[in-house]
Amino acid sequence: MASSSTLALAARAQELRAAGVDVISMAVGEPDFDAPSAVREAACASVQGGNVRYTPAAGRPSLRGTIASHLNATRGIDYEPDDVCVCHSAKHALANVLWVLVEPGDEVLTLAPVWDSYLAQIVIAGGEPRVVQPRADLGPDLDAIARAIGPRTRGLMLNSPSNPSGYVWSREEIEQLTQLAHEKDLWILSDEIYARIVYDGVRPVSPATISPDARERTIIVDGSSKTFAMTGYRIGYLAGPREVTRAVARLQSQFTGSPNAISQEAFEAALREEPPEVASMVAEFDQRRELLLAGLAGIGLPTARPRGAFYAFPDVSAHLDGDDSRTFCERLLETEALAVVPGAVFRMGGHVRLSYATSLEHIGGALERLGRFLGK
Ligand SMILES: Cc1ncc(COP(=O)(O)O)c(C=O)c1O
Repeated sequence: MASSSTLALAARAQELRAAGVDVISMAVGEPDFDAPSAVREAACASVQGGNVRYTPAAGRPSLRGTIASHLNATRGIDYEPDDVCVCHSAKHALANVLWVLVEPGDEVLTLAPVWDSYLAQIVIAGGEPRVVQPRADLGPDLDAIARAIGPRTRGLMLNSPSNPSGYVWSREEIEQLTQLAHEKDLWILSDEIYARIVYDGVRPVSPATISPDARERTIIVDGSSKTFAMTGYRIGYLAGPREVTRAVARLQSQFTGSPNAISQEAFEAALREEPPEVASMVAEFDQRRELLLAGLAGIGLPTARPRGAFYAFPDVSAHLDGDDSRTFCERLLETEALAVVPGAVFRMGGHVRLSYATSLEHIGGALERLGRFLGK
């Protein structure tokens, strides 16, 4: 198994930087902001107060209650604390759900462009990932999804807003998906980690809200990393049918034990206080998104307009000369000191991913380097 490709690329950029090269990195998928002050204060208070012993394996009841209320307020779904299990991160919650649901040989559908960790996690859980290609605008091709469902297909992983495309599924698309899941008896693992980072007035729809049937077959995963810029705190959760949350809690109790007590308190503060920093961060991302999209259009790279998350996923196929996006990105890093992620990582080799979780100044510099690299 390969290690996470984005992390490997970030490491090479770091190496060049250490050698004195002025590298601009648009490879990293984490907010470049501090966690809100309420979060930092709660973390310090937790340490000072000594409330840092093991918690229940599924997380503190108060945090699970707060998450349930948060889901009610943000998604309109009525969950109880027992429908929630706190995990060490969203990534860990996804892995836990797959370990619990996937039997050897089960097929799990994923939708290109797909975050590479999904594919690795399905394989680790003993399943077989199947990748379905999207429409030209990077939205879901529901006919192709229907055609990909076979006798061994058990579930589907959804990520809206998407890493890496920023695509946000419409209500109609989500409804069609839940209908398909009902007909074919599939579970939906809905990774909603970017649900609060959206633009142009869009509102992401969770499949769990569509109908009682959809709610019973949907497991929501979310966390603290993106919305509250808490990547290093490592805290996330899943919510869904009690059978699943309880099974994950049992697994967790044997495997990793209770999630970090300090981060649980910090996350609870974030969810309770709705820190104003979140809205300012999203507004800042929006400004960067506009600059990046205008710049990419200026150098002639077709880019589907991302309406969520903090990535753009331009089509660079006209510039590949037969090689794939990995070689393109390696050359871009070595000649222009600009780090971006090859689309091949996400099973769409004609694209690259640029993260705009970096300053306007860096985005401007990156566009200049990319334009020069493409001979524009
Ligand atoms: C689609 C997606 N899901 C989950 C995660 C992981 O979140 P966490 O930091 O909570 O593990 C990421 C992080 O890049 C992501 O892009």
